[in-house]
Amino acid sequence: MGTVTELNHPLVQHHLTHLRDSRTSPHIFRAQVRRLAILLAEQVCRDLPLKTKQIETPLEPMDGKVLSSRIGLVPILRAGLGMTDALLDLLPTAEVWHLGFYRDEETLQPVEYYQKFSSSPPDVVFVLDPMLATGGSASESINMIKKWGASDIRMLSIIAAPEGIARVRKKHPDVPIFVCGIDRGLNNAAYILPGLGDAGDRIFNTL
Ligand code: URA
Repeated sequence: MGTVTELNHPLVQHHLTHLRDSRTSPHIFRAQVRRLAILLAEQVCRDLPLKTKQIETPLEPMDGKVLSSRIGLVPILRAGLGMTDALLDLLPTAEVWHLGFYRDEETLQPVEYYQKFSSSPPDVVFVLDPMLATGGSASESINMIKKWGASDIRMLSIIAAPEGIARVRKKHPDVPIFVCGIDRGLNNAAYILPGLGDAGDRIFNTL
């Protein structure tokens, strides 16, 4: 089974609480998503390989270290976009490839409406979706990313339901999952409880 890393850090608890609060305004909500995405990035990048780069400081030459992988970010539209800039701040040369799903409100199944991938996949792909609820769109996205040819795929979510984690782990045991918090479960409409409501609506102020 794939690993699940739940960040256990006072900063995560602090920012997650402000994120969840229904009184948090859209612009603060976006800032909180960014902060939590940065904390996730710190964890998910821990084992990325480095190569030597010779540079000169103002005082002398030295062998520095820089990331050696081609890194791809795949935000799942639309809420995943809220995490993208934070990751790009830390990984400015990462490629961003988009996947769009909407949820069929009757079947609650994900329906793909947008995909754009290059001809060759990056060395490592970070799938960005703040809410890992049923795990349907995450699993479908990972299927598509595997068909693209990527083998090192990592899932980043801010809040996950146990149901979503179980589904991704069952269908994709090779994909590690990084989350800020794991909540109680899903309601009948597949919203995470206690969760934070609809992340896309809160990011884009479309409530
Ligand atoms: N997507 C959301 O934005 N919120 C949930 O609770 C579940 C899925």
